[in-house]
Amino acid sequence: MTIRPILIHPDPRLKKVCAPLGRVTPEIETLAADMLATMYNAPGVGLAAPQLGVLSRLFVMDCTKDPAAAPQPMVLIDPEIVQTSDELNTYEEGCLSIPDQYADVTRPAEVRMRWTGLDGRIHERDFDGLWATCAQHELDHLNGRLFIDHLGAMKRQMITRKMVKLKREMERERA
Ligand code: NI
Repeated sequence: MTIRPILIHPDPRLKKVCAPLGRVTPEIETLAADMLATMYNAPGVGLAAPQLGVLSRLFVMDCTKDPAAAPQPMVLIDPEIVQTSDELNTYEEGCLSIPDQYADVTRPAEVRMRWTGLDGRIHERDFDGLWATCAQHELDHLNGRLFIDHLGAMKRQMITRKMVKLKREMERERA
């Protein structure tokens, strides 16, 4: 397992619609393991392939809140939403590609998702609470959409300006 660098917004690779994978290969297994390692290391509750610069429809998540509980790493390949609740939920979201910035985003409170697992089989499951928010946030990534795209233009531009500044500082430190 390798911890890989996470792309920081703004980056054109975070704005792309990612391509379906279709089937599970050893390369995808390696990528999924690296994504989980990178997510837990960050630490974060979700990570999508484009955040590592891989433009494929794949994300990982683990929204287990209790640090004493066993981890529940999930790998979702070619995920899709098959049903959403009318009921909405607002969560303060953040993103590993937009460090230290948080904002309220309203989404369906429950979603049913269908995806291919690392076992090559189709899975279907209902998610609620933080799991539902995270699943939708990560699926957004696969369509080139960030949580700040759910905010007003002013707020989005303010956060983007901060990220441009942050990236400039990071580059300076590296130089
Ligand atoms: Ni994110």
